[in-house]
Amino acid sequence: MTTTLAPEPQATAACCGPDCCADDAVATLEAPAEVSIETPIETAESIKTTVREKYAEIAVSGDSCCGTGSGCGCGDIDMIGDAYADTEGYVADADLKLGCGVPTEYANIHEGQTVLDLGSGAGLDAFVVRQIVGETGRVFGVDMTPEMIGRARENTKKLGFDNVFFVEGDIENLPLPDNSVDVVISNCVLNLVPDKEQAFAEVFRVLRPGGHFCISDVVSRGEIPASVRQSVELYVGCVGGALDYDVYLGTVRSAGFAQIETAQARVIDIPDAAVEAVLSPTDRLAFADSDATLMSVTVIGHKP
Ligand SMILES: C[S@@+](CC[C@H](N)C(=O)[O-])C[C@H]1O[C@@H](n2cnc3c(N)ncnc32)[C@H](O)[C@@H]1O
Repeated sequence: MTTTLAPEPQATAACCGPDCCADDAVATLEAPAEVSIETPIETAESIKTTVREKYAEIAVSGDSCCGTGSGCGCGDIDMIGDAYADTEGYVADADLKLGCGVPTEYANIHEGQTVLDLGSGAGLDAFVVRQIVGETGRVFGVDMTPEMIGRARENTKKLGFDNVFFVEGDIENLPLPDNSVDVVISNCVLNLVPDKEQAFAEVFRVLRPGGHFCISDVVSRGEIPASVRQSVELYVGCVGGALDYDVYLGTVRSAGFAQIETAQARVIDIPDAAVEAVLSPTDRLAFADSDATLMSVTVIGHKP
């Protein structure tokens, strides 16, 4: 189902972490031609319910360390530190420390454009985009957690913006028409979405021909232990749902995108405390000895 881009009144939401980022490294993209990453429907729905509950709690408390507090969003894994410190348009009230990159830095957004932020949280990146597109542009944020939408709308009201709209909706079924958006951005969200093929198909659908996306996300390299992947708390912390990097790029390519590049990549150094809760001492050692890593990446792709 789609709705029009009529200025639907307001919206709100939030992934986060300390000194865990290694040096930037630009990567090249060679992706496998075919990928299969299906998640059973029942599992997908329960993942979404858990994710929604977790982010509702964060939205209401304003504290990314609420709940059991493991993983991204609670300081155990700080993925961006003070990366936004010098970013024009940064609004502290909209920063729930849930991001894993600064997609707006690489998104090549221009004044007057229409930009969509997927999993917009409390509005962190949407307000930075508003600074760039100005009064003549439009910014849409989509988030499936009503409490996040509420928080983002409150922030919008305080800021007095009339061209920033937050809409409740699922990234797998975006409430926007075909070919309606110049740029899609997202910050640490797609790793939480069960059906990433469908998510990128939706990004492709809503982008106008010639448009592009710039998405910061968490991906894995090597074998991450099943117990880590299965940990719902770590999942919500942007780790358990992370796709293998090559599979991720293959998914982007399969969706139809071209000129794919990774603008930024950092190794995420997971502190011991973040895995102690889910791994036995033996598994922890095996994990530490393996080549398995998590990375924060910012990927760009163009719709031909
Ligand atoms: C880790 S937070 C990131 C928030 C924001 N991008 C930021 O950096 O502050 C993830 C957000 O994505 C939203 N989200 C997760 N899965 C979603 C989905 N399938 N559809 C829409 N929103 C989703 C959550 O509600 C939450 O607000």
